[in-house]
Amino acid sequence: MLADQIVGLQWGDEGKGKIVDLMAKDYDMVCRFAGGHNAGHTVVVEGVKYALHLIPSGVLNPNAINVIGNGVVLSPDNLIDKEMSQFENIEKRLFISDKAHLVLDYHALIDQAKEKLKGKNAIGTTGKGIGPAYADKISRVGHRVGELLDPGKLAGKIMEYFEQNRAIFDVYGIDTPDREALTKQLQGYKAKLEGMITNTTNLVQDALGENKRVLLEGAQGTMLDIDHGTYPYVTSSTTISAGACSGLGINPKQIGKVTGIAKAYCTRVGNGPFPSEDFGKEGDRLREKGHEFGTTTGRPRRCGWFDAVAAKEAVRVNGCDQLALMKLDVLDGFEQVKVCVAYEVDGKRVDYIPYDLEDAKPVYESFAGWEKVEGISEYEQLPQNAKNYISELEKLVGTKVGIISTSPDRKDTIVL
Ligand code: GDP
Ligand code: IMO
Ligand code: MG
Repeated sequence: MLADQIVGLQWGDEGKGKIVDLMAKDYDMVCRFAGGHNAGHTVVVEGVKYALHLIPSGVLNPNAINVIGNGVVLSPDNLIDKEMSQFENIEKRLFISDKAHLVLDYHALIDQAKEKLKGKNAIGTTGKGIGPAYADKISRVGHRVGELLDPGKLAGKIMEYFEQNRAIFDVYGIDTPDREALTKQLQGYKAKLEGMITNTTNLVQDALGENKRVLLEGAQGTMLDIDHGTYPYVTSSTTISAGACSGLGINPKQIGKVTGIAKAYCTRVGNGPFPSEDFGKEGDRLREKGHEFGTTTGRPRRCGWFDAVAAKEAVRVNGCDQLALMKLDVLDGFEQVKVCVAYEVDGKRVDYIPYDLEDAKPVYESFAGWEKVEGISEYEQLPQNAKNYISELEKLVGTKVGIISTSPDRKDTIVL
């Protein structure tokens, strides 16, 4: 069996949580493969809202097993206190890779201190410690979930890490933890997580071998990818579809259908280039109508128009078979809807993402707006102008739209 995948095509927050939840009813296993609790995936079922950061968004389907793969960086605090506590018997249907790296208190402190030192050049991270945790992993000084099984030994290693890096911690103003308190904290994590820690590569491979249906849930978005995003204003992981291979231990031949998730407009939270950002009233209107405030940090999201150049590249890089077009209802009532179809760089029109997107100016095409699509769940009921907008986007990004979302709720979705 092949594993299907959903992946963000923009700067994150495209609505991945909603689509994973919707699709999860047809799957036996839902797996996260990258990112950490910087992700905030919202699921709304019958008016009840759930915010997920590390637990896969398939969790509301009681029949699916949920997997946190080795490519994820895991904060035990966030998982235990903020997420597991929302669900009953989660211990029985959540598995965590022993090879996933830990995000510990000091990672968040380093993240915040570094951002402060950067001043106006700050990335605008979530401050959760994601970058420092991945940096430790790549520098081969990180600590893995499997080490939680021996809290005393892990505490010793962390104390050594502090000793070796004391000069750096001094610059950041971070104190060495008390060994006894640290050991106690790690023992607490072990007590809560021990039964869920396992070799998830075997778990996923066995499931695929037994013809079980597996869904791979991307975090962040293609424009935040460490290689393909707007570096250095990116996150520290491989967010594109290929990240699922290393982040779970599956091979490229085991990936099936890839659904790219994109809003019908664009948002970004944090700093960095965003050519189609609208600084005027229309941007404010998108923010208000779309409730564009971060799920993880509550920060207002920057808003603008659909960037078809970035989306086209994202479709190619991820190998998307179809697009899920989200939040079409937020464009309700606009007289004209704009789409960025190219950039102008140094007076020249380009239809690809240039090396430096900072100075790229958007070239827009406008399309006639529509009155209302909110709550519509049948394609035939969409206003003609909304149908036209969808088919124009299909041409511009080079793939078909297979899912259209018209409200946060699971039920308000058109599946073509
Ligand atoms: P994710 O990180 O990709 O899972 O997306 P987030 O959950 O961070 O942000 C998407 C937001 O849009 C959430 O508040 C969702 O409830 C909401 N949402 C998802 N789909 C729709 C939609 O079609 N219409 C509207 N109005 N809101 C939506
Ligand atoms: P989901 O999965 C939107 C952004 C941050 C910042 C940059 C680096 O909900 O789509 P980090 O803390 O990762 O070092 O921050 O990446 N960012 C996200 N933006 N959605 C996310 O996740 C994000 N995860 C990180 O705002 O600009
Ligand atoms: Mg989000």
